[in-house]
Amino acid sequence: MALLEIRKYPDNILRKKTAPVTTFDAGLQRLIDDMIETMYAAPGVGLAANQVGVSKQVAVIDVSGKDEETSLIVLVNPEIIHFEGEASIEEGCLSIPGYTTVVKRAEKVIARCCDREGKEIEIEGDGILARALQHEIDHLNGILLIDRIGRIKKEFFKKRYKREYESLKASLS
Ligand code: NI
Repeated sequence: MALLEIRKYPDNILRKKTAPVTTFDAGLQRLIDDMIETMYAAPGVGLAANQVGVSKQVAVIDVSGKDEETSLIVLVNPEIIHFEGEASIEEGCLSIPGYTTVVKRAEKVIARCCDREGKEIEIEGDGILARALQHEIDHLNGILLIDRIGRIKKEFFKKRYKREYESLKASLS
């Protein structure tokens, strides 16, 4: 297993819709194992393949707390087939380090996908799991959490990002 580099905003790969997985081969198994290791090391509760530079419909999620048993989920070619309710919760993203914001999403969802062997499964989630499913499936469609907030908040984010990016550039030169 290997730790993969996590791509950061504004990397273009994060904006591209990922391609469906068609073969469940050894290469896919290696990618999934590396993504799991990278997610735990970050640490994060979810990771999408395009965040590690691979534009394929693969994501991993584990929303268990540190004193709980692990609840690892591998999603291949996922789509959400049912949305229910509404909840506003604070969210962050490994590709936008240091930034969190309240995002309004469905409270409960059902996702249909394949597991790592290619078997079709359905995952029902509410609370933090529903949140992670929506966040990671958004990633696979090229959507970031800053696309799920209001225009004014997004402008504020961009200004702050530009300021921090420019001070980083200045400190390196
Ligand atoms: Ni994210």
